[in-house]
Amino acid sequence: MKKTLMSLLMVLGVAAAVVSCGGKQEAAKPAEGQKYTLGVTYYKFDDNFLAGMRNDMGAIAQEKYPQFELLNNDSQNSQAILNDQVDALISKGVSILVVNLVDPSNGQVVVDKAKAANIPIILFNKDPGKAVLESYDKAWYVGNNPEESGIFQGETVVKNWKANPKQDLNGDGVIQFAMLKGEPGHPDAEARTKFSVETIEKAGIKTEKVFEDAAFWDSAQAKDKVDALLSGPNGKKVEVIIANNDGMAMGAIEAMKAHNVMLPVYGVDAIPEALTLIEKGDLSGTVLNDGKNQALAVLELANNILQGKDPVEGTQWKLVDKSVRVPYVGVDKDNYKDFVR
Ligand code: GAL
Ligand code: CA
Repeated sequence: MKKTLMSLLMVLGVAAAVVSCGGKQEAAKPAEGQKYTLGVTYYKFDDNFLAGMRNDMGAIAQEKYPQFELLNNDSQNSQAILNDQVDALISKGVSILVVNLVDPSNGQVVVDKAKAANIPIILFNKDPGKAVLESYDKAWYVGNNPEESGIFQGETVVKNWKANPKQDLNGDGVIQFAMLKGEPGHPDAEARTKFSVETIEKAGIKTEKVFEDAAFWDSAQAKDKVDALLSGPNGKKVEVIIANNDGMAMGAIEAMKAHNVMLPVYGVDAIPEALTLIEKGDLSGTVLNDGKNQALAVLELANNILQGKDPVEGTQWKLVDKSVRVPYVGVDKDNYKDFVR
């Protein structure tokens, strides 16, 4: 008897919830004592920046959203694995998908899966592009404005170059530089490569590229590339090393040490190891890629979306083209202490 009454009340409760939102579809509410499940994928766990973001997301969820259960998946740098993980998360009936693509040009496949299952999806870190987001009303993106990171990086190179005339090793007034690129085709890698150099040129300093290669955000690969560069004929020409992220900048520093050279090196991300290297004087600059606030934004959006609210209601974020872009900050020896945590 009691049981029947309970189930009747539950049915009425569900009916009331549907009526109360005026036909607007609301995400399934977890039953009393249960949690919202967030199906989260990372392109690979073994990535300096995203490992930090994963920690941040876990810590923020624990502190602010005890009703969230994060199901973290390591896509091991394989888009095929990611696609299978998304299928599995959908079959599990997760409340929302939170996806870091492996291949940023492959967002449509994943968004189509979410759409077919009517599950909201937040993509982060690898921008799928506007068209993909617009193909599904419950798709959003959290990231940054990659152009900005290139501009801040270029500004730091200029500031440091002007303050240290000895950096112009051959005294020709031109910056002979080596570029360590992240993953080709990744919006962050492309924009940082382009805008860092453009910013230097705009400041009136000529540049000459003596080396460019992709090291896929990875320290070990960058170390090998810089080792080869310093062993070859261009090794004597290079005056500045510009890396699309700190991981690769760290690899460059290791290679330089083995060759007994110490050129100015610049990264992006401001991971803790990079801040230590700035303190030591081994790294000349980086740019804060604010993973903590990106993690916070993901969870805040998820929380609103799951309650059928506007995704950015009550938050500090703005949606432009269904995307939240967390600002970057330029970092060097003058302000790195502000970012140590
Ligand atoms: C960038 C970050 C890199 C790497 C990449 C992966 O935003 O700066 O270090 O994590 O994302 O997509
Ligand atoms: Ca020069």
